[in-house]
This record gives sequence, C-alpha cells and structure tokens, in this order.
Amino acid sequence: MSEHQFAARHELDRGLADDVADKLTAAINERGRASLVVSGGSTPKGFFALLSERDLPWEKVTILAADDRWVALSDPASNETMIREHLMVGPAAGATLLSLVSAYPDSAKNLSDVTAALSALPTFDVVILGMGLDGHTASLFPCSEQLDVGLTTTAPALMTTPTTAPHRRVSLSRARLADCRAGLVHITGKDKLAVFQRAQATLDTAQAPVAAFLGGENPFKLWYAP
Ligand code: 6PG
Repeated sequence: MSEHQFAARHELDRGLADDVADKLTAAINERGRASLVVSGGSTPKGFFALLSERDLPWEKVTILAADDRWVALSDPASNETMIREHLMVGPAAGATLLSLVSAYPDSAKNLSDVTAALSALPTFDVVILGMGLDGHTASLFPCSEQLDVGLTTTAPALMTTPTTAPHRRVSLSRARLADCRAGLVHITGKDKLAVFQRAQATLDTAQAPVAAFLGGENPFKLWYAP
C-alpha cells in the first residue's frame, strides 16, 4: 500500500488527524497562524472528531469549507453547520470559521463578501478535498455549466449549479484551492478509488474535475481506506 492507504477507515481517520495536526502546528510555529480547508459530505466526520480533540493553539487556526450548499445554516444540507457540529467542538471550538454563506440569501453580496475574505487569506496550509463517484470535488461538478469557469478562473470563488446533486453551491475555484502548501484527497471505498485512479491516469478534468488537482509538480495526495 502506498504511504497514505490504510486497511481500515478508523486507521485512515487517525492517520489523517495526526498528519493534519502536525501540519497545522508547523504552520503556526513558522508563520504564527494556520489555515485549513475541509470538505463536506459524510467521509470526513470520523476524521473531524479525532482532529477536534487535538491540543493545538486553535485560536490561531482559520477553518473554511471548500464549498457549501446555498442553504440556510439551519438546513441539514449545510456544510458549515456540519463542520461546526463535528470539527469545531472541544479544543477545536476555539478556531475561526470563515463562512462561505455569510450573506445568505443575498447571493450577489455573498459572493462579493466571500471573494474579499478569500483574497485576504494567504496560501492555504492544508486543503482536504472529498470526491464523489462522478469525480466531482468541492462543488466542481462534471454536470454543471460552470465547470469550465471553476477550473480556469482566477477568482477565488464562484456559484455553481449541479444537475445531478441538489442545491446551488458556493465553491472555491480550482486556482484558489490549489494555492496551498499541502493538498489531500480524502476518500473511502473501492468504487471511489477506481474513479480516482482513472482521473489520475487520464487527467481528464471534464470527466472527473478532481483530475485538476492530480497533475503538475505538486499533485494532491491520496488518503484512502476501503
Ligand atoms: C459537498 C462536498 C463534496 C463531497 C463529496 C463526497 O458539499 O458535498 O464538499 O465535494 O466531498 O460529495 O461526499 P461524501 O463524503 O458524502 O461521499
């Protein structure tokens, strides 16, 4: 197995929590602060629980989602709320969360506010992407009309509208997500591994937008368990 492939999901969650805690600590020691971009969905919840317990100077950490659904925080689909409930608890409650939906329901003001906030942040220290079976990552979906813009714009964020998943989305752009010191793709299950490996081989971003993070000199690293 490669360096970041584990036999069981609980081992993956623990290994990822160890690695991310180390990266955040090093960032704080070197630059005084750290930034962590995480993904929504179900995969990260076990990892979030373990990371939240780590004894870090969380008041020096900024956390944000790679994307969010365009819903109120009271909606069960909200990634921000999932992050607040599963990661920003215990010691990690002291971190700062940068919201992608702070001006909801005013989408124009929200995109302007989020763009300004993201533009003010330096290179991310850690970016953790999830992936769907269609090869989407963040809210860069193969089915959405906004995919090409999301993959090519220099803007830090955009609104996308998937046709195969619910809700409009606010997503960080490829350019902004790739502006990081450490990029990871966190997936579980053999079906997702096959999609990831095909994306890694073809680098076909239209088929699998996650491929946009798998080429070049600093490809995102796979963290996987069956
Ligand atoms: C979202 C996520 C999305 C997620 C994948 C995987 O808003 O849904 O950001 O990109 O990471 O869909 O989701 P699961 O972990 O639930 O399979």
